[in-house]
Amino acid sequence: MDCRGRLLLPQNATAWRAGPAVTVSRSYVPVTANYHDRVAPPAGDVDYEAHGDGYAVQRRADPRIAAAVLSALGAARTVLNVGAGAGSYEPTDRYVVAVEPSAAMRAQRPPERVPAIDAVAESLPFDDDAFDAAMACSTLHQWRDLDRGLAELRRVTRGPIAIFTYDPDTLGRFWLADYAPEVIQAERRRQPPIARLVAAFGEGTEVCRIPVPADCLDGFKEAYFARPESFLDEAVRRSQSSWSFVEPAVQQRATARLRADLASGAWDERYGALRTQPELDGSLRLVVAPPKR
Ligand SMILES: C[S@@+](CC[C@H](N)C(=O)[O-])C[C@H]1O[C@@H](n2cnc3c(N)ncnc32)[C@H](O)[C@@H]1O
Repeated sequence: MDCRGRLLLPQNATAWRAGPAVTVSRSYVPVTANYHDRVAPPAGDVDYEAHGDGYAVQRRADPRIAAAVLSALGAARTVLNVGAGAGSYEPTDRYVVAVEPSAAMRAQRPPERVPAIDAVAESLPFDDDAFDAAMACSTLHQWRDLDRGLAELRRVTRGPIAIFTYDPDTLGRFWLADYAPEVIQAERRRQPPIARLVAAFGEGTEVCRIPVPADCLDGFKEAYFARPESFLDEAVRRSQSSWSFVEPAVQQRATARLRADLASGAWDERYGALRTQPELDGSLRLVVAPPKR
């Protein structure tokens, strides 16, 4: 795999031991009603029917990150994308099946993308080993039952599984933590520890650091490490779900302080070197589970 990042050893891979492993029953029965209808919407921890408007404009696939995801999919001909949203990072040269539980997100898929199936990671309506490879980008932190979702991904995929996620242990290093610590804390609580993913997929799972380009097209928080003014734009913040976990007053306080520091030059005094830094060694990770043995 060439993920253009640095390969990390799966340190602590066995350290995460919160509960028993999920057993995927052989007698798996495809759902007839939607899983999320039975557990009450939304399917994840964010209501995209209320907050998803404009997501596809702010969160476009970045070609440098896409290259790493595509490389991890190897020679797969059939690819499942779970938590597919508007279709970012879906390959265009393979047979893709997309799963996305939010109608607001499915509606933002451009016409050149396949329509997405209304289902959730925790109950994938596919046969065992149905796909050559699978991918899940910026979505794990929203799943209601991570272990069940990962077990389902593994069940339906015979080849590699590429997961684009964020290392919660490094999120606090980002300068935004000085302005909106509550937002970073909310994000840290949601993002699963990388060791938990490695433990779930087992031996052979690889973890790569993916550098964040300074002009990153995918507007997650660290994408704007060199463009602090972007956080003053409400549309940018709305496409970053962890802002929805804090009170409006917190957003107002954080943006007012940032605006004042940008006007006075205080931000540039402290962090101005970032404006010309080509990439950030931040929290972005690509976790790649090996093919089934
Ligand atoms: C931040 S968006 C990422 C979308 C897309 N993968 C991307 O990279 O732009 C997270 C997506 O995960 C979806 N999601 C939330 N809970 C889910 C679940 N339990 N199973 C599958 N997808 C889920 C949301 O509806 C949302 O579209």
